[in-house]
Amino acid sequence: MILLIGGTGYIGLKFQEILSQRNIEFKNLSRSKVDYYDFKTLNDVIAKEKPTFVLNAGGFTGKPNVDQCEINKSGTIIGNVLLPQILGQVCDMNDVPLVHVSSGCIYSGDKGWHESGSRIGFTEDDEPNFSYDRPPCSFYSGSKALGESVLSKFESVIKTQKRKFNRTRKGDRERRGER
Ligand SMILES: NC(=O)c1ccc[n+]([C@@H]2O[C@H](COP(=O)([O-])OP(=O)(O)OC[C@H]3O[C@@H](n4cnc5c(N)ncnc54)[C@H](OP(=O)(O)O)[C@@H]3O)[C@@H](O)[C@H]2O)c1
Repeated sequence: MILLIGGTGYIGLKFQEILSQRNIEFKNLSRSKVDYYDFKTLNDVIAKEKPTFVLNAGGFTGKPNVDQCEINKSGTIIGNVLLPQILGQVCDMNDVPLVHVSSGCIYSGDKGWHESGSRIGFTEDDEPNFSYDRPPCSFYSGSKALGESVLSKFESVIKTQKRKFNRTRKGDRERRGER
């Protein structure tokens, strides 16, 4: 069974749709029903449910868009840094793998040009270049990069998924001059 965090969001709903279509068993842990920011509560749930893995599709993206992260900085840090920290810790303690949805927004531009003339893109193994460590960056991107950094110390994290989703973040990227 997959334990889904953030199942009510855009990405989470897509995961719910795909998992249902494929008859893969999952449980959506809703923030409105379970305070998964409370360490003990989350630990009790994971210890009891013993999921095959936890899938974190939760986080703070800002409404109506990521510009809101520049205003609500504490909310951004809570959703994109504190939540991964708690999940990483609880998953490690229970020996449960954690899959975390990160973001392609931690990269800006590209890595140069292929001989063929096409641009060389970033891979998931590349260090973020649009982060608090490599300013200037947007507050959202910095928080996502910091969330990855926090998770890097936990053995339970098996994958960070960056940019497999196409929502209308395009406008945000275009404003920043990204592809
Ligand atoms: N959308 C994209 O194109 C895209 C692309 C790459 C990566 N991502 C990443 O994917 C994750 C989900 O993005 P999304 O677009 O699905 O976001 P969204 O529609 O705003 O949904 C956010 C989800 O996270 C939950 N959540 C948990 N803690 C939260 C907090 N402190 N503040 C706000 N929401 C919180 C929400 O639960 P409630 O229902 O309880 O509010 C909701 O289920 C984020 O980590 C984002 O960085 C998104």
